[in-house]
Amino acid sequence: MQVFETPSEMAAWARAVRDRGETIAFVPTMGYLHEGHLSLMREARERGQHLVASIFVNPLQFGANEDLDTYPRDAAGDAAKCRDVGVDVLFTPTKASLYPDGFQTTVQPGPIAGPLCGASRPGHFEGVCTIVLKLFNLVRPNVGVFGRKDYQQLAVLRRMARDFDVDVDVLGMPIVRESDGVAMSSRNARLGADQRTQAQVLHRALDLAESLVAAGERGVEAIVAAAAVLIREQPLADIDYVELVDADDLSTICDLEAPAVLALAVKFGSVRLIDNRVLTP
Ligand code: PAF
Repeated sequence: MQVFETPSEMAAWARAVRDRGETIAFVPTMGYLHEGHLSLMREARERGQHLVASIFVNPLQFGANEDLDTYPRDAAGDAAKCRDVGVDVLFTPTKASLYPDGFQTTVQPGPIAGPLCGASRPGHFEGVCTIVLKLFNLVRPNVGVFGRKDYQQLAVLRRMARDFDVDVDVLGMPIVRESDGVAMSSRNARLGADQRTQAQVLHRALDLAESLVAAGERGVEAIVAAAAVLIREQPLADIDYVELVDADDLSTICDLEAPAVLALAVKFGSVRLIDNRVLTP
C-alpha cells in the first residue's frame, strides 16, 4: 500500500492511472475506521482496478460547537486496517495542504441540503461538498463509495456530482450495524455504557415505523410521533430530529405514497448519532 500525504503526489498518481485507461474506486473517510468503512472498501475493491481510501477529518464540515477536537483518531490502526482490506493508495493529507492560506472557494449545495442535518448543522454540507469535490478532483475516481447511514450526505453528493458534471458514479451502500442493532459510527466510541445501551432505541424506532407501515399506516405525523415517543422513553436520549421525508429529494410529505426516508438524529450526552430507514408503502 502506498501512502500519499500531499495533494500533488495523489494527483500525479491518479493522472498516470487514468492515462493508462485504468479505473479507480474511492472511499473517502474521516478515519477511526470500523467495519462499516471496511465494508465500503471491500465493495470498492470489486468496482475498480485500483482502490484509494482517504483519511481526513475535515474542519470545514464541523460547526463551532461541534466535536472536531474530540473526533476520535487512530492513524496507525487505520493504516493497518486499510492494508488488510487491500487498499492500494491511502491518502492522508494535512489541513494546510488542502486548505492553504488564501483558500476561499466553497461549494454551496441547494435545497436538498436544507432539512435534517442541514437545518441542525448549518454549513455542514457546504463543508462536505467542498472537501468531496476537492478529493474527487485529486483522486479522479470512476466510482466513489459512501455509506447510506449518512443518507442526506449521499443525496447531496449525488446532486453535486450531477450538477457539476463530475464524471463519477456515486454509490451508496447499506448501513452496517453492531450485533445489538446500533449503526456503526466512529462516534460510538465516545458513548458511555448507559448511552450505548440506550442508543439501541434508534434502530428499534426504525423497526417500529417499518411495522406500522407494513400494517397499513400512511400518515407521516403518526409514524413520526410513534418513533419519537419510543425514543423519548430513554432518559439519556435528546432528539435533534425525527423526520419522514421524500426519499429522493428529501422534501416534506404528508402521507406515505412513495418511498420515504425516516431520518433520526439523537444526542446522547455530547454524542450525536444519526440513523435512517427507507419506508416503502
Ligand atoms: O462521511 C464522512 O466520513 C465524511 O463526511 C466525508 C464524506 C469523508 C467527507 O469528509
